[in-house]
Amino acid sequence: MMRHRLGGKRLWVLGTVGGAAAALGLAAAGCSPDMPLPDQVVVDAADNSNCDELSYENFGQAFFQSYCLRCHSETRVGDIARNDAPVGINYDTLEGVREFATRIRLRAGELGDMPPLLLPGPRPSEQERVQLIRWIDCDTPSEADAAGGG
Ligand code: HEC
Repeated sequence: MMRHRLGGKRLWVLGTVGGAAAALGLAAAGCSPDMPLPDQVVVDAADNSNCDELSYENFGQAFFQSYCLRCHSETRVGDIARNDAPVGINYDTLEGVREFATRIRLRAGELGDMPPLLLPGPRPSEQERVQLIRWIDCDTPSEADAAGGG
């Protein structure tokens, strides 16, 4: 988030290489940057008036494939292959997604610190994050649910 940026008044701290190294150390030591959606966007996103629109098949599956499975996948074994994504947090299936839906909404939707900002790679757009929140607030529907009349 913006306050982690090294701009304006704080720039003088970085007058030395030591200062820059200290700043990087801070980032590595748990000051994990995020990129939160504006509050009003989150409020507007929390709209489950049209839950027929987004499904796992027309949205969720491709979302997780594009932005999460290069770390959070059952097919990735070991810390290096998983880029340190915790063992057992995998989004290959709808069940895997549902198990962590609340945390997914927070980290990838609201806060935007998943995927991790410090690692290069594709990230969802603001629009896609809004869709993610909507789909989760609708209880992660799939076409199978619809076919089952639920
Ligand atoms: C480049 C690798 C990488 C990608 C891509 C990635 N993650 Fe993660 N994820 C991690 C790591 C590392 C952790 C553990 C550290 C942490 O929690 O910040 C983690 C932890 C998590 C957690 C568990 C922590 C919690 O807050 O409960 C959730 C949920 C999560 N990621 C969601 C996602 C979602 C959703 C996506 C796709 C939009 C995603 N991640 C993409 C690496 C990744």
